[in-house]
Amino acid sequence: MKSSGLKRVDILTLFPGMFEGPLSQSLLGRARDRGLIDLRIRNLRDFSADDRHKTVDDRPYGGGAGMVLQPEPIFRAIKAIRASVSKDLLKNSKPYVIYLSPQGRVLNQKISLELAQRPWITLICGHYEGVDERIMDLVDEEVSIGDYVLTGGELPAMVLAEAIIRLVPGVVQQAESIANDSFQQGLLDHPHYTRPALWRGKKVPEVLLSGDHKKIRDWRTQQARGMTSKKRPDLLTTNSRRRI
Ligand code: ADE
Repeated sequence: MKSSGLKRVDILTLFPGMFEGPLSQSLLGRARDRGLIDLRIRNLRDFSADDRHKTVDDRPYGGGAGMVLQPEPIFRAIKAIRASVSKDLLKNSKPYVIYLSPQGRVLNQKISLELAQRPWITLICGHYEGVDERIMDLVDEEVSIGDYVLTGGELPAMVLAEAIIRLVPGVVQQAESIANDSFQQGLLDHPHYTRPALWRGKKVPEVLLSGDHKKIRDWRTQQARGMTSKKRPDLLTTNSRRRI
């Protein structure tokens, strides 16, 4: 059945090899192997307008350091991606195109939840000094993973892909584990413990061994509040709660 949730992610990159590790080892790879997400890595060079050298970049007009990604390969790639609507998407679907950039909306859990509702997302990884500004007409939004600058959009694309794909039903084994995630309810997660109950003189809190589910729930809520006010008091102010 076709639902409104995330079905497919295309990632456009100059460095497809960077995705091999995460795709074979992590949650992203497992979600893909289990058919829960259609994740496609696309090499920007395959869409170069220059068949011989596969050039995708050039010097900036006006001078300055570095190289700029040309608009044509990105245009061609987006066109090809758009034309490849898969069976699990509605016939007239279009991808929601995101350009990873430090100038974008800064990613948080609320934005991840919002993006995970979209059936089809395309991520463009920039490189060098950036992309030719004229491709911005093809971009629905820019997303940043934080106020610092990385060399390319590949790591940010992996971060964003993981943040949204883990929200697809079935990707994370227990739905409860997502519900309790830090930020999911505007609070950090509560602390976790496992066996042994006594480790190098340190005990697991008694309440967790009590078997009293209500008590455990109350303790966890209280711990989550305590952790948040200690480690991230900014999350408790009204303005930032709205952000989360
Ligand atoms: N590309 C380079 N730095 C980035 C960042 N902080 N977020 C997203 N994309 C980027």
